[in-house]
Amino acid sequence: LRNKQEGFFVTTITMIGTGRMCSALGRVWARAGHSIIFGSRDPAGRADVIAGIPGARVVGIDEALAAAEVVVIGTPFTAVAPFAQAYAGQLRGRLVIDITNPFDNLPDNRVSGAELTAQAIGQGARVMAAFKANFWESFETPRSSEGIVRDVHFVGGDEADKALLSRLITDIGFQPVDCGDLKNARVLDVMVPLLLELDRRYGANRHSSWKFLGT
Ligand SMILES: NC(=O)c1ccc[n+]([C@@H]2O[C@H](COP(=O)([O-])OP(=O)(O)OC[C@H]3O[C@@H](n4cnc5c(N)ncnc54)[C@H](OP(=O)(O)O)[C@@H]3O)[C@@H](O)[C@H]2O)c1
Repeated sequence: LRNKQEGFFVTTITMIGTGRMCSALGRVWARAGHSIIFGSRDPAGRADVIAGIPGARVVGIDEALAAAEVVVIGTPFTAVAPFAQAYAGQLRGRLVIDITNPFDNLPDNRVSGAELTAQAIGQGARVMAAFKANFWESFETPRSSEGIVRDVHFVGGDEADKALLSRLITDIGFQPVDCGDLKNARVLDVMVPLLLELDRRYGANRHSSWKFLGT
């Protein structure tokens, strides 16, 4: 982390994937002053992703990981374990934020997607789960139409990592909510299909969020 000006830290965040989540999240982080690198399987073909994102670049996966302070995995869930195994050497020791949703692809509902990501990276993995129930459409509106700040629920095992992620969440205007250890990612995983069900039933049109009242 570099101290850019008093009280503000620029974090180099590598987004693995150039889809809806990574581009929407990368955009708001870049606007907040962070340095965004997109890692793509086809950087030339995805050059359009950085349009209008201040200072961002899109490069191959190896180059993107080399510069990363924080790695955000935003691929389809089924691509996560193969990616984590293939790049385990570069991911070990780095803070990895798994934002992917397994839905029905888990081998066993007693384990979470993020735990499988940590297993695939192996010894030295620093994996957190976050943003799982935050629709990509919501990043431009951190406050709901009622003026309520949206939550980002996250889990992980390290207090310093949690402090850094909390800061990254407040930097984009959302409320960080620490939901405990990595194993609680099992609960976060299943909150996503429930939110989708509520979103459909109440016609929220993907502008819904979970909110913990009590902070
Ligand atoms: N959509 C939401 O609102 C939302 C909310 C919370 C969480 N999530 C989760 O976030 C993840 C990304 O969602 P998304 O909506 O951003 O998906 P998306 O638009 O389909 O983007 C996925 C990106 O992953 C990359 N990728 C790497 N390996 C891949 C593979 N084998 N097949 C296809 N793409 C691959 C691709 O980038 P390159 O081609 O450049 O490599 C692609 O642009 C998913 O796990 C999803 O469950 C989504």
